[in-house]
Amino acid sequence: MTARVLDGTALARTLRAEVSAEVNSLMQAGHPTPGLTVILAGDDPASAVYVSNKRRACQEAGIHSTLQQEGGDVTTASLLDQIRCLNEDPEVDGILVQLPLPRGVDADRVREAVDPRKDVDGFHLLNAGALAQGHPRLVPCTPAGIMELLRREEIPIEGARAVVLGRSLIVGRPMALLLLSAHATVTVAHSRTRDLAALCREADILVAAVGRPGLVTDEFIRPGATVIDVGTNRVSEEARVKDLVGPGSPRLESWKKRGWLLIGDVHPSRAAEVAGALTPVPGGVGPLTVAMLLRNTLAAYRMRRGLPATEPV
Ligand code: GUN
Repeated sequence: MTARVLDGTALARTLRAEVSAEVNSLMQAGHPTPGLTVILAGDDPASAVYVSNKRRACQEAGIHSTLQQEGGDVTTASLLDQIRCLNEDPEVDGILVQLPLPRGVDADRVREAVDPRKDVDGFHLLNAGALAQGHPRLVPCTPAGIMELLRREEIPIEGARAVVLGRSLIVGRPMALLLLSAHATVTVAHSRTRDLAALCREADILVAAVGRPGLVTDEFIRPGATVIDVGTNRVSEEARVKDLVGPGSPRLESWKKRGWLLIGDVHPSRAAEVAGALTPVPGGVGPLTVAMLLRNTLAAYRMRRGLPATEPV
């Protein structure tokens, strides 16, 4: 079997066009421009790329974005001050603090300082609690994007067995809760789970979000299962790269040029032989995360300004 490729890039394009159309109609009705402020602290190169992708997507959708960039020596106190100002600024609809924060910064305090109504990441306790209680408000972008992909690709969720590999605040935990709300039977697995492969093989829907390149091989996958790969790992070593993508893969050209390849948590060549459907890396979950950030910004805008929410498609 060769897995059906779940094209996140194509769906993200659709979602972004929907946001853009909605922004246009708000503007035509005389409403103000939605605004997102991103705080980027430190010099993590991957974060800089993610932030620039997010800002470009905002611009294309008609959302005004502002960047507040800080060095690696930023303090918790100064970030809290910055967030306080943004909370009070009526033109700011969404606040996103890019993670990871530099060492020494109290990420928990920073997260909880964001006004929950502007928390477009959905990381604040209030938003996390609302999701846990089955009354979601602002939901973390990556798992929200995955739900959108499963729905629009018509992958049955209700009654399905889902295994979420990873228990992070950003992906694993909210993913499990969203799948549960959609009536899947959900198991959360992690680094200390015994006999991980056997557990994962029970899944109709397997979501891998552990940051371990190529961990999920054919042995983890039930034939025909849907496999969602959230990992974004850079792999450089030649033998490893060849094992992951297969010796004849056109991706080897890109590895030769750059010296590394972006590899998910799923073994790309071995998983494709068994899975029924699979998100590629790159071009799977990543673009959806960005699209859902735009959706969340618009949802925050509507909520705070007392405008009715749009119907989900
Ligand atoms: N770093 C990696 N993913 C994310 C995300 O979804 N939001 C934020 N703020 N930082 C991240």
